[in-house]
Amino acid sequence: MSQPSVLFVCLGNICRSPLAEAALRARAVEAGVAITIDSAGTGDWHVGRPPDPRAQALALAHGIDISSYRARQVTAEDFHRFGHVYALDPQNLKDLHRIEPSHHIADLRLLMDMVPGRKGTAVIDPYYGDEHDFEQAWADVCAAADALVKRFRR
Ligand code: 4NP
Repeated sequence: MSQPSVLFVCLGNICRSPLAEAALRARAVEAGVAITIDSAGTGDWHVGRPPDPRAQALALAHGIDISSYRARQVTAEDFHRFGHVYALDPQNLKDLHRIEPSHHIADLRLLMDMVPGRKGTAVIDPYYGDEHDFEQAWADVCAAADALVKRFRR
């Protein structure tokens, strides 16, 4: 069986989805599980830019350097390249359904649906928020990363 592939999608690809990418990369290495991981945004405002400095600082505080990540916009082609596409919030999921090709291989769902007790909930957008909002987003993407590693370890 080929290795699982995961794409995380938020709005700007500079806060939540890069943190989700970082968390899953770290957890996958710790668990010895090989997963192809990427992230993207539904919007194009930040394409080519590194993650928000607050997200970079937060990841680094947890030992993960995400300064080399660069934002990109999700494409219809991604639905043919990734087995799993996870939306960080319900609006992202709606926007993904809008560009979803009629036939594709991706299992598209809300990320927090993977976490017991969090079905239907969002990883709250911390962009206009404060440090606490970033910490909350980090806690959420780490809980999701743990659930995904468990799932893909099987
Ligand atoms: P993200 O956060 O979707 O978690 O990357 C945001 C980044 C930028 C904007 C909104 C949310 N923005 O409006 O530019």
